[in-house]
Amino acid sequence: MRGKTLPVGVLISGRGSNLQALIDACATPGFPARIAVVISNKPDAYGLTRAEKAGIPTAVVNHKAYADRASFDEAVDAALRKAGAELVCLAGFMRILSEKFVEGWRDRLINIHPSLLPAFKGLDTHQRAIDAGVRITGCTVHFVRPAMDDGPIIVQAAVPVLQNDDAETLAARILDAEHVIYPLALRLVADGTVTVKGEKTVFSDEKPADGRLINPLPD
Ligand code: GRF
Repeated sequence: MRGKTLPVGVLISGRGSNLQALIDACATPGFPARIAVVISNKPDAYGLTRAEKAGIPTAVVNHKAYADRASFDEAVDAALRKAGAELVCLAGFMRILSEKFVEGWRDRLINIHPSLLPAFKGLDTHQRAIDAGVRITGCTVHFVRPAMDDGPIIVQAAVPVLQNDDAETLAARILDAEHVIYPLALRLVADGTVTVKGEKTVFSDEKPADGRLINPLPD
């Protein structure tokens, strides 16, 4: 267990409901992380308003202002380091990050994805799950690797696909689960309980982790 709160940078592109779940978690007494900066690639992202309301510094790094991915990623990296971030959470950040950026934050960069990875990587996950006829889908928080939606898994929640679900109703139920597992994953990484060994996550504490990392209950 670390003795201090870990400074975290959160990257967003839009509505920021996962960001809000992280803001709320960081506000609870004893939480081992604090949000040092929220960075958006879109100037009108509602998540920026959420951060401002919580008194968190924000930055806009507009991808349209950069000639290529490398220079955009360098600007994001510089903003994170300027804010003193030691861990980065992707929360609905809709840009693919270069290998250089991802490797620069290796094992200090986590993402939430609305499926049970490695199923349904990429976009449009809810409709694709419905079209595939799966009975169970869900969401995953994982460490980021250069390949899209790839990397050691930290926490997952399973969500049933109901008979009358459309992409919107399914997305809403998965989102509720996202708001539970992202704060949990951040806590486990920030307090040092979860680390990466051999491209899988391991748990340092003495309690059996398994039951706590699948469909965890809200704190
Ligand atoms: C979430 O479904 C997340 O899993 C995905 O993008 C969405 C972002 O939503 N990566 P929000 O901006 O956190 O509300």
